[in-house]
Amino acid sequence: MLKVLIMVVCALIVNLSMAHCGGCKSTVVQEEVLMASHAVSHYGSHASKKGETVKQAILLVAFGTSEKSAQVSFENIAKLAGKRFSNYEIRWAFTSKMIRKKLARLEGKQLDSPSMALEKLADEGFEKVIVQSLHTIPGAEFDDLCATVKLAKQQKGGIAHIAIGQPLVANYANLDRVVDLMLKSAPVERKNTEAVIFMGHGTHHYANLIYVAFQALLNDKDKNAFIGTVEGNPTLDDIIAKCKKNNIKKAYLIPFMSVAGDHAKNDMASDEDDSWKSVLKANGIDAISILKGTAENDKIVEVWLDNCQTAIEGNSH
Ligand code: CO
Repeated sequence: MLKVLIMVVCALIVNLSMAHCGGCKSTVVQEEVLMASHAVSHYGSHASKKGETVKQAILLVAFGTSEKSAQVSFENIAKLAGKRFSNYEIRWAFTSKMIRKKLARLEGKQLDSPSMALEKLADEGFEKVIVQSLHTIPGAEFDDLCATVKLAKQQKGGIAHIAIGQPLVANYANLDRVVDLMLKSAPVERKNTEAVIFMGHGTHHYANLIYVAFQALLNDKDKNAFIGTVEGNPTLDDIIAKCKKNNIKKAYLIPFMSVAGDHAKNDMASDEDDSWKSVLKANGIDAISILKGTAENDKIVEVWLDNCQTAIEGNSH
């Protein structure tokens, strides 16, 4: 019954998300519209001649991070993607304007937005591009990415074939697989009387329901495993109430985010009064933090790359 319920919720979220892709009118999209219409003026014609190999690329799209130490996550994905899809060129784009601006200011790094990256690929004559979302859930960032891809598809003389790969958890099979992988990422020395607590980002977007489904599945597999979010539900308070009920005195804290960036370092693991570690401590629970993003876990990266494979095979929208 629970499984059926979760499947219905997942299907609903993905359907709504896809329906939403066409009609999003956020400011980000407006900006992308301007960029795309600018791009159309100098898109060339890239029809391939007979016998020529098709120029193809995978565009990896992440939110981005300004934490230097978190770059290891991205390097790991690029390495694994390059190995698995060796006949594709690997490119990057970052959806967070705030992060792109910050890195340009602080480090002089010019990172591409998805529309900028697609424009460059079109200019360079790429004919097949798989846009692989490295987001965790199909939330607002993914909606915006869908809108950008939809526009790029409409450009006459642009990239002939563009497909989009789903984020990490966008269906029941992936949810089940990722829940198992996250449980396995807990340290082997963890006793079953100790909790493992995952910190997700959370969002106002309806895709936040995925975290609620995640908790339901976790609970089925391990009664002392919990997920909470920084900006949505479940909350840390929800987790603490359950820990108290289960008489938990010790917990391991692990980010459920692709990078162990600002949220993991400050909101989860720091000694600040309102960090998860401090709040747990104040509630009689000693917490040990593991600062490792999901993109550092090869088995989880495989899930993203499987989604990419699905997009390559044309089974994705
Ligand atoms: Co955030």
